[in-house]
Amino acid sequence: MSLSRAISLTVNGAVVSAVVEGATHLADFLREQRDLTGTHLGCEHGVCGACTVLIDGEPARSCITLAAACDGADVRTVEGLDDDPVTTRLRAAFKIDHGLQCGYCTPGMLVTARDIVRRLPQADEARSASNSAATYVAAPVTPVSSAPSGGCWQTRRRWWKRHEPPWHPK
Ligand code: FES
Repeated sequence: MSLSRAISLTVNGAVVSAVVEGATHLADFLREQRDLTGTHLGCEHGVCGACTVLIDGEPARSCITLAAACDGADVRTVEGLDDDPVTTRLRAAFKIDHGLQCGYCTPGMLVTARDIVRRLPQADEARSASNSAATYVAAPVTPVSSAPSGGCWQTRRRWWKRHEPPWHPK
């Protein structure tokens, strides 16, 4: 008995039909079968948020979402947000305020930040962080400050070390 399954979904506005193994994650499907390598894999445990995409308009971690479960869904990756005006503004803000850091998790941060901006346009940094779709990928939104409240914990630690806050042990 085969565990393969035929699925049909919309990816970045295009209808896609494919056969996937039952255990194939959406991130692997997008990267390997659709060549959408803008979706990055970090922890692969649903913790870091680097793999965040939109499924039916909601941010979701594609590393813990089965492709087979997306049959009939509308999936949008960071590539599919190229012409999105909010994402365009966020990209510019990330650039101006050095929000890119190493850049690896940036696709997930952009998708998550866009969701926060759309749902909570008046959110400050604390509210943005507490409402992020992922624990560590909590992109600063309004305004994007120079102190990273988003990004991976290594980046935040490096930033705080460099700026030597009074409570940091010498
Ligand atoms: S790679 Fe999916 S949450 Fe980390």
